Amino acid sequence: MTVHKVSTAHIKSLAPREDFPILAQSVRGVPLVFLDSAASSQKPRQVIDSMSQYYETCHANVHRGAYYLSEQASARYENARITIAKFIHARSAKEIIYTRNTTEGLNVIAQTWGLQNIHSGDVILLTEMEHHSNIVPWQMLAQRSGAKLVYTPVTDDGRLDTDTYYRLLREQTPKLVSFSLMSNVLGVIPPAKEMIAAAHSAGAVVICDGAQYTAHYPTDVRDLDCDFLAFSGHKMLGPTGIGILYGKRALLEAMPPFLGGGDMIREVHLQSFSAAELPWKFEAGTPAIAEVIGLEAAIMYLQNLQMTRVAEHDRAITEYALGRLSELPWAHVIGPVSAENRGATISFTIDGLHPHDAATLLDRDGIAVRAGHHCAQPLMERFNIPATARASGYVYTTSDEIDALIASLRKAHAAF
Ligand SMILES: Cc1ncc(COP(=O)(O)O)c(C=O)c1O
Repeated sequence: MTVHKVSTAHIKSLAPREDFPILAQSVRGVPLVFLDSAASSQKPRQVIDSMSQYYETCHANVHRGAYYLSEQASARYENARITIAKFIHARSAKEIIYTRNTTEGLNVIAQTWGLQNIHSGDVILLTEMEHHSNIVPWQMLAQRSGAKLVYTPVTDDGRLDTDTYYRLLREQTPKLVSFSLMSNVLGVIPPAKEMIAAAHSAGAVVICDGAQYTAHYPTDVRDLDCDFLAFSGHKMLGPTGIGILYGKRALLEAMPPFLGGGDMIREVHLQSFSAAELPWKFEAGTPAIAEVIGLEAAIMYLQNLQMTRVAEHDRAITEYALGRLSELPWAHVIGPVSAENRGATISFTIDGLHPHDAATLLDRDGIAVRAGHHCAQPLMERFNIPATARASGYVYTTSDEIDALIASLRKAHAAF
């Protein structure tokens, strides 16, 4: 195994640590080292306060009452949509649909656009590195429609086999292509823009799973030219229970509604209804208003940090962590071992130590990492492993925390 030279420069938290009350605590008598942001990030005080302030000053249901509080709540709910549209460079706020999370966004597409457009014999092209959220909805659609699922393989060094991807586009002419902008296991960031352009040339509609990527890198849906993008608020400093589905307007206009009920209609009669216009057509029932406001606060916080600096910090942490892990001959990174085109989500196995045991031992030192299949069982099968340990950083991660991880791993390995 090659040992990478580790930069000795100390990497500080990009965000002021004091903004994150949860990180100041000790767990099991030692300072908390939180390295599970890929599962869900921690929240700055600004996000928590925005939600409390909303409940304390202007909570009312949106789009309903002709009174002051409801007007205030509706205005904040809709202004947040504009902030989110600008954050991902959408052409219009009408292209921003509030969902619960990435999973729901992908299911909306499968159950609406998918049922309308995918038929028996059609090909859906996915990749082997997808999260279950970007596999199971397409399996469900394939079961109902008779479509065929085809997968782009992952290479032994944990990158997407793009040569095969381009060949599959030519040979299989898929109607739909869906892939993650950053793998939650391998950390790898595929060349999305080129992949999308090639898929369009082959006649496919392209969906991007931005659950990991959007939190860490500047995301421009117009530059990418993806047809849909789904992501979750809770992985990008925002609250749980709110996600975004971006879709190109013409596609969203042509899609049938997903859930039926209040708010998503223009008119209802005993035997019929007509759907509301975009984006409300896809937002049935009372939405997660406080969570939308919390997500806007999270996005404003990230904008304040600047997404280019968020990406640089991510890269520095990735390089540092990969370098330090390479010092451990018994630890094996599953995914690229160079920081090029990969993010700070690092999966590894340890000789003689099950990932769950490793995570339990690390926890005794206050270090929170994830162990398991990370909702990517097909990828585990691809690498012939049952599970990995995964350390993932974010805007508050420091090189000291990576050092603590390495020291604790050495201790765990020695104990076994
Ligand atoms: C790449 C990827 N896609 C989809 C999801 C699902 O996100 P959520 O659970 O917020 O719906 C995750 C969550 O870990 C993920 O990492």
